[in-house]
Parts: sequence; structure tokens; C-alpha cells
Amino acid sequence: METTLIVGCGYLGRRVAEFLQRANNPVLITTRRPESVDVLRGHGYAAHELDLDAGADFIPPGGPYRVLYLVPPPHYGAQDSRLPRLLSALRGHPPLRFVYAGSSAVYGDRQGAWVSETAAVAPQSETAARRLHAERSLIQWCSEHGISRVILRLAGIYGPRRLPLERLRSARAAVREAEAAWSNRIHVDDLARACIAALQHPSPRTLYNVADGHPSSSTAFLRAVAERTGLPAAPEVPLREALAQASPAQARFMLESRRLDVSHMREDLLPDLLFPDYLAGLSAIQDF
Ligand SMILES: NC(=O)c1ccc[n+]([C@@H]2O[C@H](COP(=O)([O-])OP(=O)(O)OC[C@H]3O[C@@H](n4cnc5c(N)ncnc54)[C@H](OP(=O)(O)O)[C@@H]3O)[C@@H](O)[C@H]2O)c1
Repeated sequence: METTLIVGCGYLGRRVAEFLQRANNPVLITTRRPESVDVLRGHGYAAHELDLDAGADFIPPGGPYRVLYLVPPPHYGAQDSRLPRLLSALRGHPPLRFVYAGSSAVYGDRQGAWVSETAAVAPQSETAARRLHAERSLIQWCSEHGISRVILRLAGIYGPRRLPLERLRSARAAVREAEAAWSNRIHVDDLARACIAALQHPSPRTLYNVADGHPSSSTAFLRAVAERTGLPAAPEVPLREALAQASPAQARFMLESRRLDVSHMREDLLPDLLFPDYLAGLSAIQDF
């Protein structure tokens, strides 16, 4: 059976690996820190240390394999230097398919409009520009090597131990609902299932938006998290006031408003979600 190579096995990757292991699919995973490698091996995974900032003397799996790439771009610069390093390490023995988990930030601000995969990209931050650079590097490499590729443009991930608790504890203000931007989310279990479907689908499209299809404001999400966890709700203030307290990255998030159209994801990868909106997802979370 083909091996799945998960590059960057953090929060999402662990969930994907668990699902694949349960289904007896061979998995090979990489993480940057030696202590994480030991933990993962302790859980029965074939794990390797790989730091794509330190070069990539990585030997790809021996037989046929597929890649799920979950490493974020570096924090600085206009390009993603990490992905090209991995691609060059895989050149001698390329995968059958490469699935790249990117970001819907590449669409920029759409003033609340629904955005499908055919929308033009308009990155408004260096982070989003690096994501776009990674997408383009992958497209070029896969066409040169004749490899199937799937790019996933992800919404915000939430799930057990991935909730904005520190944000609530800091009592930083949220934008009042009337002025709040639309944002998109997906529960980690549904996202992991979408990633596996993208790896295994016999004839996937090359690009998918991935979210639960029920956008809301971050303010509404924060309020629901506060109710679920018993933490004090964030004060809700006018946009101008919230912007004055925000870092540049937080301000950008407040100003970028879009709703992801996920019809293609629903058709091909995930017809049924376990958690169709954040209320369903939050109510199932026990481990905050
Ligand atoms: N969180 C969100 O809401 C969101 C939204 C859209 C897209 N995404 C993207 O989706 C992907 C998966 O998210 P996640 O929450 O699972 O991320 P995560 O928990 O931070 O995991 C990222 C993984 O990448 C590895 N990594 C980081 N820098 C690396 C480097 N220089 N070389 C090799 N590996 C490196 C990390 O290794 P260590 O564990 O050793 O640090 C970790 O295994 C990420 O690319 C993330 O940016 C996330």
C-alpha cells in the first residue's frame, strides 16, 4: 500500500496521522524538533526530524507515496523558502500526489463577498504573499514532474486545545458585531478528513477552499468560546477602537472580510461534515 508522507506533523498532522493509522494506512511523518520525533515514535509512528530552514537532506520513502505538506512559510520575506527545499529533496523519487495545505488569506479582503476558487488572488500581507509563492512553486514543480497536485486554501482551524483562550484571558477587545468582518473556520477533525480525501480521491480538482461553509464573525466565535469555557467574554467595541489596540497582524484580520464558498470541497472531498458549524464543533469539545 502507498505510504503517506506528512511533512510538518503538528496539530493538524497528528490528527491526519491518527486517522490514517486507524485505517492501517502506512504513514511517515516529519517534525522539526527531536523531542517531538521521540514522542511520535512512542506513539508508534515512523517519524523523522526535518528542519527545512536548515537544508533538506531528506530521503523520500522507498516505494510509491503521497505527500501532505503542512509546514508554514517562514515569518519573513516575500517567498516561501521551505517548500522549494523539500521539493528539491524529493526530486530523485517524486510522490504520486502532493497535497499542499495553504491559506485562504491569498484572496485578501472581499468586503464580505462569497469567494470561490475561481476568484482572482489579491494577497494583502507578506504572509499571504508567501503562501501564494508556495502555491506557484508547487504548481510549477508538479507540472515539470507530471505529478498530481491539490492545493487546499484553509480557513481558521479550531478544535480541542486549539481555542482562543489566551485571547479571552487577555481581555483584548473584539470588534462589535455590527462592524465585524466575516471569517471562516473548520474543526480539525473535518479538516483532517478533507486532507485525507484530497490525498486519496481518484481524480480531484487541483484547488479547493476548505472551511465548514458557515462563516461568522470572530466576535460571535469568541463569544461562543467564552460561553463554552466559562471565561469572561471579550469587551465588544467599535472597529476604530479595536484597531487602535491591535497589532498589524490583528488589524489585518479585522479588516479582511470574506466568506469561503466550499461547494467543490463538499462535492468531492467532504459531503458530510462532523461539525457543520462552530456551535456544533464547540459543543463536542471537552478538552479545552
Ligand atoms: N491555524 C490556522 O488557523 C491555519 C489557517 C490556515 C492555514 N494554516 C496552516 O495549516 C498548516 C497546519 O496547521 P497546524 O495548526 O497543524 O500547524 P502547526 O501545529 O504549527 O504545525 C506545523 C508543523 O510544521 C513544522 N515546521 C515548522 N517550521 C518548520 C521548518 N522550518 N521545517 C520543517 N518543519 C517545520 C512544525 O514542526 P515542529 O512541531 O517541530 O515545530 C509542525 O510539525 C500550517 O501550514 C498552518 O500555517 C493554519
